[in-house]
Amino acid sequence: MERARVVVLGVDGYLGWATALHLSAAGHDVIGIDSLVRRRWDRECGTRSLLPIRSMPERVKLWQRLTGRRIEWRHMDMCDARAVTELVSEVQPQALVHFAEQRSAPFSMIDLPHAALTQVNNLVGTLNLLFALRDHAPNAHLIKLGTMGEYGTPNIDIEEGFIVITHNGRQDRLPFPMQPGSFYHLSKLHDSHNIQFACRIWGLRATDLHQGVVYGSRTDEVVMHPGLATRFDYDAIWGTVLNRFCIQAAVGLPLTVYGKGGQTRGFLDIRDTVACVRLALENPASQGEYRVFNQFTEQFSVKNLADKVRQARAAHGLKTSIVHLPNPRVEREEHYYNAKHQKLLDLGLQPHYLGETLIESIVATVEKHAARVDPVELEQPNVDWRHGGTPGWSGVPTPASETQPVAVLSRAPKRRRPSPAPDPVRLDA
Ligand SMILES: NC(=O)c1ccc[n+]([C@@H]2O[C@H](COP(=O)([O-])OP(=O)(O)OC[C@H]3O[C@@H](n4cnc5c(N)ncnc54)[C@H](O)[C@@H]3O)[C@@H](O)[C@H]2O)c1
Repeated sequence: MERARVVVLGVDGYLGWATALHLSAAGHDVIGIDSLVRRRWDRECGTRSLLPIRSMPERVKLWQRLTGRRIEWRHMDMCDARAVTELVSEVQPQALVHFAEQRSAPFSMIDLPHAALTQVNNLVGTLNLLFALRDHAPNAHLIKLGTMGEYGTPNIDIEEGFIVITHNGRQDRLPFPMQPGSFYHLSKLHDSHNIQFACRIWGLRATDLHQGVVYGSRTDEVVMHPGLATRFDYDAIWGTVLNRFCIQAAVGLPLTVYGKGGQTRGFLDIRDTVACVRLALENPASQGEYRVFNQFTEQFSVKNLADKVRQARAAHGLKTSIVHLPNPRVEREEHYYNAKHQKLLDLGLQPHYLGETLIESIVATVEKHAARVDPVELEQPNVDWRHGGTPGWSGVPTPASETQPVAVLSRAPKRRRPSPAPDPVRLDA
């Protein structure tokens, strides 16, 4: 594919920043958008990235100094319809990669304001984009980050977005039945429906990447300089399971597994995330097409992952224990799981499979920044799916305003004093 003008929405985030660098390195013209709301949510939750991350202006300046390549940075909220419309009509992008959403399941399960904030932020942002594309760039290719969590854990094989069903003697190819496990995952499914609808009625083109849980923090571009680091979350709200196990191992805490640990999901290395997005970009959907790629490379149960981390540490003579804790989520702990993930391989994806070396390199990264690990974040009890996370919540959502279209947190998740019981690990995204 020739050089494309690509907008990366959510460029300040874990995956958005790494992807923007990768696409820029591949010769595409990248415009990066973010409202920086995640940095605000971090302040409100009392959380922070393990790896220090620089401001957006500093990061893009450093990238240009090191490579001569320019990423244009713009501060913008996806929930501001006028700003989204102006962006699309002015830039006339060939493609947009949309990462700009609230992406924590526990955050969405804290209480009513957090569930509402998640769904308003995610759905309104995507709707603004769809209408802007309809009116100003109907040929642009929308690449949207969805999640494997939209499918849930059905007792049949998971297909890539669609399934052929025979019913009462008739047959059709229909969207795969979905059973998401949190208000966050539901927001991604609602987005998927809206995007699919827009492709059907307006002839837009979109790729919905149903992504598994991402691990790691190092891509070819990110490792060029410490100032290009992307965020690495480990706390109970934002941290994903393998990253979190590696932190626990690095600081000598037991690896904490929910319940039986048989919960199985798809996983991928962050290097494969950026490669998959590039493959989708360089092999666009046809006009009017809505397609789904299941974006992961291997599936593991939580217990498998904990065992892998333990084995990787044992190879260096280090002992790591695993503890099972009551599961604060409502989910199956033992279930069938077999999800297809062929389409990105067919486009040429060369997966980086999880091995001991990689686990060791993540642990080494953590050890380097061990002074930044807040033990409270590793021990803080998780949000409970049945009761939420903020006892004492008054039940009155903060009113939305013109400048702040999504509900503002009325109460940050409570920070508790360290307790002897370690925090369970969650499977997110
Ligand atoms: N991290 C994973 O393992 C994973 C797995 C599957 C899917 N995903 C999806 O990938 C996307 C990116 O995930 P991430 O881990 O990089 O998250 P992240 O929180 O690190 O980054 C998201 C970025 O989007 C920005 N943002 C949020 N709402 C915005 C808005 N209204 N306007 C402008 N910017 C906004 C935030 O400020 C943040 O910088 C999400 O949509 C998530 O659902 C992530």
